[in-house]
Amino acid sequence: MSNHTSRPETIAAHALRAIDAATGAVVPPIYLSTTYARDENYAPLLKENYVRSGSPNVWQAEDTIAALEKGAAALLFVSGMSAISILLETVPMGGHVVACNSMYYGTRNWLERLRDRSRITITLFDANDRNALAKSLTSKTDLVWIETPTNPMWTVIDIEAAAKAAHNVGAILAVDATALASVTTQPLTLGADIVFHSITKYLNGHSDVLGGVLIAREKNSRWDEIISIRSKTSSPLSPFECYLLMRGMRTLYVRYAQASANALAIARHFSNHPKVEKVLYPGLGTHEGHDIAKRQMTNGYGGMMSLLLKADYAASQKFCARLKVVTPATSLGGVESLAEHRKTVEGPTSLTPDNLVRFSIGIENVNDLVADIEQALSQL
Ligand SMILES: Cc1ncc(COP(=O)(O)O)c(C=O)c1O
Repeated sequence: MSNHTSRPETIAAHALRAIDAATGAVVPPIYLSTTYARDENYAPLLKENYVRSGSPNVWQAEDTIAALEKGAAALLFVSGMSAISILLETVPMGGHVVACNSMYYGTRNWLERLRDRSRITITLFDANDRNALAKSLTSKTDLVWIETPTNPMWTVIDIEAAAKAAHNVGAILAVDATALASVTTQPLTLGADIVFHSITKYLNGHSDVLGGVLIAREKNSRWDEIISIRSKTSSPLSPFECYLLMRGMRTLYVRYAQASANALAIARHFSNHPKVEKVLYPGLGTHEGHDIAKRQMTNGYGGMMSLLLKADYAASQKFCARLKVVTPATSLGGVESLAEHRKTVEGPTSLTPDNLVRFSIGIENVNDLVADIEQALSQL
């Protein structure tokens, strides 16, 4: 576990005091070199000398994220899906993976692809049933994958209970904590073994970097395997993207606080709206998982929410197109609010309801957001 003594807001704002040792530059330089020279004794100057295995900007960003998550180490990848697929590569041939049934559709598709090729077996458990995870485990389970809150239904899963259940059968627990953004929950402190974030979302926060990160509770042989697979088949984020990520993370806590406050106000405002069937937001007292969220999300409920509209598939799509302040686009966790008709993006095999519109609430003035959603609803 990381032993940094500053509080997380300070770690983020200072980017772990990444001050350039040679010049004192408060913003560290971007090292664009793909290769690093050896010294007069032919010893490498850095711990890696080729950029596919790492470089200074990558290590600064990885160390900052590891400190925020209270992990032993972090590894950045060129996309969130790259990180996920490399973690799944460490599951032994024929190994059993247990995952929640409501999750980011890209992860689910990848798990199903591996299953269809007989690479792994999978059991998808009902995220709404608190006993379902434990019942899905067998002595062959190698990896439990949960996402909390789940995308796009925002079901909350108890991380501590999931870790205990996984460990009872000798499996590890990996948590997709993209929506938790390192700010409100540190899954490693609740017993998780690996934490994942799509840094494309909250950690970078400005919709201009694609990337993923894995953080480990301890460095072990599985972690070494992940390092080795990354350096052979993929690469860390590029130095310039690491610079953008470091810049984005400096404001992570204030962005998350504002997005959480806006989302809670919007969730409350539309809870009894005549054109809205249901608001899905873990911060609402009426949400099925609010008791777990209250215990687990100790620093805000985040900016992610969905509205189930009193509308069909086509009308729900049109609702998104009528928004003028909220941008109708995919992705989440940026400073600007986004909305999308999830089923359109996920395709015909999607289990997402036809009338679900997912919102990533940003940091704008909340009255502008409420007024915009109101005007689009009034045309339903
Ligand atoms: C919860 C979640 N996990 C994983 C991913 C995949 O990350 P990326 O798009 O960075 O590959 C996404 C992307 O939307 C996501 O929302």
